[in-house]
Amino acid sequence: MHKEPSPEKKQLLKDYGYHFGQMRVRTMGHIGLDIFETKREGCRSTDIDGREVLDALSVQGVFNLGRRHPKIVDALKKGLEYLDMGNNFFMSKEKLNFVKKLTGTTPGNINCAFLNSTGSESVDLAIKIARGYTSRPGIISANECYHGITGFALSTNGNADYTKPFEPLMPGFSRVPYRDIDALKKAITPETAAVIFEPMISEAGLLIPPKDYFAKVRDICTSNGTLLIIDEVVTGLGRTGKFWGIEHFEGVVPDIMVTGKGLSAGMYPMAATMYTEEVAEFFLTYPFCHYSSTSGADLGCVAASAMIDIVNNKEFLDEVNRKGKVLRSGYEQLKKKYPKTIDSYEQIGMNTVIRLADDAGGFRMNSYLADEGIFVLLSTNNTSVIRIQPPLIIEDADLQIILEALDKALFRFESNL
Ligand SMILES: Cc1ncc(COP(=O)(O)O)c(C=O)c1O
Repeated sequence: MHKEPSPEKKQLLKDYGYHFGQMRVRTMGHIGLDIFETKREGCRSTDIDGREVLDALSVQGVFNLGRRHPKIVDALKKGLEYLDMGNNFFMSKEKLNFVKKLTGTTPGNINCAFLNSTGSESVDLAIKIARGYTSRPGIISANECYHGITGFALSTNGNADYTKPFEPLMPGFSRVPYRDIDALKKAITPETAAVIFEPMISEAGLLIPPKDYFAKVRDICTSNGTLLIIDEVVTGLGRTGKFWGIEHFEGVVPDIMVTGKGLSAGMYPMAATMYTEEVAEFFLTYPFCHYSSTSGADLGCVAASAMIDIVNNKEFLDEVNRKGKVLRSGYEQLKKKYPKTIDSYEQIGMNTVIRLADDAGGFRMNSYLADEGIFVLLSTNNTSVIRIQPPLIIEDADLQIILEALDKALFRFESNL
């Protein structure tokens, strides 16, 4: 099914493999997604050979607003007239106004923030703050989690595919099954600095906890003097139909929250670690214990402020929920049509997955959907799952294209073609 690349693309792929690694290029080629990206606009990217691909993943939230959203482009163009990254030792109105806006969206008194460039770095800082504030070493995460690639973030991870080559990981880390309150109660000790969870884990096939789960987690943390870190890198910024995923669990206020990916709408690397005023006291003793030369760039702040203006309003979030339901009813029909192939599906806002009745089904679906011009990825912590997380601004016509492509891919799957 995959088209032979043009001579120009062949040479580019060869050079790319040489400089960036053969296996990455080959693996993407194998699933039909060795896209050499040129034009990118809205929900589509164009390969150098002219093939257009419809994005049904958004890099799990980086492109919540699609590619090159005009309002973000405009904000950056204006910013470029007078800004750069900014001097990280100096202050600026761009940083201040953005952090006011960002923490205006967070629950409780999470009013303080440190701006970073990546989600992983922001998780690392959350863990540093938790250890520094509590003077305890222990960090508990979920068996099914993914919180990033850097030292502390990676040490939360239970998947050997990510961690094996780098062992030993950091000491003090342990894991419990997600959504298992008794396991958490048993694991927590007076040495536990923090529990870190996502509000829902999409990397593991979209695990959605019961409504009262996080209230219980919060209570267990509070009664043990342990901080609760909520990783909103994927679930935040409108993806689940609320601005933050944790808002689905009424009244729960974490001590620390982490965001990234779509924070500046895919136009500038930007992420943040946000924390309560109490936790911020840690920085009174260690004001310069953590900083990065490129973090909290003023241009990124301008883009990120424009992103919040677009997403943080009722009409936008209502639309996310409506479109999520369009996908859900499509999945319902597909499950009736392919009962042997689809095990189940899950949807919350525009965070959706289809679970296949085959442990490695995600790989095959990935490849079949690529043949239909759709970019999605399987869940790396659960390869029976295909994640479908299109840009939040996707049009209904493109949702139908995704559902039709799923139909064709599932037909092939079921017919074993
Ligand atoms: C839940 C979660 N946390 C943290 C990260 C790390 O973010 P980044 O890739 O920007 O380092 C990711 C990345 O996919 C993620 O899914």
